[in-house]
Amino acid sequence: MRKQIVAGNWKMNKNLQEGIELAKSINDYFMEKPAAKAEVILCTPFIHLAGVAPILKANKLFLGAQNCASEPSGAYTGEISPDMIKSTGAQYVILGHSERRTYYLEDNAILNKKTVLALNSGLNVIFCCGEVKEEREAGKHFDVVKTQLKEGLFTLKAEELKKVVIAYEPVWAIGTGLTASPEQAQEMHKYIRDLVKTQYCETVANGITILYGGSCKPSNAREIFSKPDVDGGLIGGAALKKEDFVAIVEAF
Ligand code: PGA
Repeated sequence: MRKQIVAGNWKMNKNLQEGIELAKSINDYFMEKPAAKAEVILCTPFIHLAGVAPILKANKLFLGAQNCASEPSGAYTGEISPDMIKSTGAQYVILGHSERRTYYLEDNAILNKKTVLALNSGLNVIFCCGEVKEEREAGKHFDVVKTQLKEGLFTLKAEELKKVVIAYEPVWAIGTGLTASPEQAQEMHKYIRDLVKTQYCETVANGITILYGGSCKPSNAREIFSKPDVDGGLIGGAALKKEDFVAIVEAF
């Protein structure tokens, strides 16, 4: 009933030529496989967007950015607005990735502002949440995720939330090779879905796509995706190689 999605987060990797090459090879693969079950999103660096957009012709293959400005336009040197992203042909933007929260000090308030702005520009949002290692060890992971979602996302109306995908990414699993167990992922995804149900309603909760992210690879994707509340993945390292990435998509 709800969408299954595999999104690749390229982070700050690949120059323009390399990025175009990778996008072409992924598009070629899915041109011959129109029956891929999941929607696939390539989240590239900003400078790749306009070049990659016309390449993505395959069915269910979409484009996204990894961040956006919190203001619509004006004197904000170096920033990229959601309208600019939309004008490249992209449909998605990742917001609240733990690397943005940690290295660029983005808090729930700014992420909420960015989310509202991105939705108003017609972009869909992949909103990330997740706890750090110490928080999990202290048993605070549910509370951390709850606060991130309450402050970052739950100000939205139900209609707006339909354009949001939630990505649960335990920070201790990102780029570390340490994956959450399928049971840990399921437990948190179910918790998130229940939060949405309490805040909105059962229909909204059942309709929202919740992705798992953190060292997801071809060897573990099938088991993680088999859990009832896991609707796909946000893939970092393994999204940089066509073979690995398409193998993860095929894990559905
Ligand atoms: P990883 O990154 O797959 O390399 O752990 C996931 C992410 O940061 O989105």
